[in-house]
Amino acid sequence: MNDLNSLMKNRRSIRSYTNERIPVDVTNKVISAAYFAPSAARRYGFDIVVVEDSLLKDQIKTICEQGERTWVHSRPNEVKDSILQLPGFSFQKNFLTDAPVLLIITTNPNHPNIPYPIESCWLAIAYMILEIENSGLGTLTYTPSICLTNRRHELNEVLKIPIDDHIQVILPMGYYDVKLEHKESHVERKVHHNTYGTPYFK
Ligand SMILES: Cc1cc2nc3c(=O)[nH]c(=O)nc-3n(C[C@H](O)[C@H](O)[C@H](O)COP(=O)(O)O)c2cc1C
Repeated sequence: MNDLNSLMKNRRSIRSYTNERIPVDVTNKVISAAYFAPSAARRYGFDIVVVEDSLLKDQIKTICEQGERTWVHSRPNEVKDSILQLPGFSFQKNFLTDAPVLLIITTNPNHPNIPYPIESCWLAIAYMILEIENSGLGTLTYTPSICLTNRRHELNEVLKIPIDDHIQVILPMGYYDVKLEHKESHVERKVHHNTYGTPYFK
């Protein structure tokens, strides 16, 4: 068991994985972390698709790569440039086939009976990310661009996800060889004291 603060500090996005298999109890522990998270009205308004099948992973990769190329090139130039200059950015999404497990988390944002489904879903995602780190594995908060377009149904079809459910994230999960250094937090300047504009940290 790791100290929570060092887990949070050391966690980095991992985009390159080894093909070492993940013990099933580790995968199950990560999944159960989602259900320890706070959830509006205790409804846990999300589903998790655990993808291990190589053929499916190939299909997901192809759809995500094509979707991202189309989406990025449809953005205004300054947005496009800022995406292309992101550290580690590539149109190649090898992590989708290299990682032994993909956790695909979905929710219906317009569900009539579940309050705050997106918020609850993302809290569960955060818990899973920390449990992945705690297990000595890596992950990436991957939000496929195609899910922002009217072609998002292509991924739903391959995975047989109901059309009203939106993929929020794909978490590739696996072991890795190279990890980036931990980063210093620069968030302090966004923290205000009593009223907005008065710095909390002097
Ligand atoms: C909501 C959200 C969406 C993200 N989407 C992507 C993505 O689609 N592709 C990607 O490579 N990284 C994605 N990331 C990862 C961020 O780029 C990464 O967290 C950020 O650069 C900070 O690096 P770190 O996670 O190593 O601390 C996403 C992160 C968040 C929180």
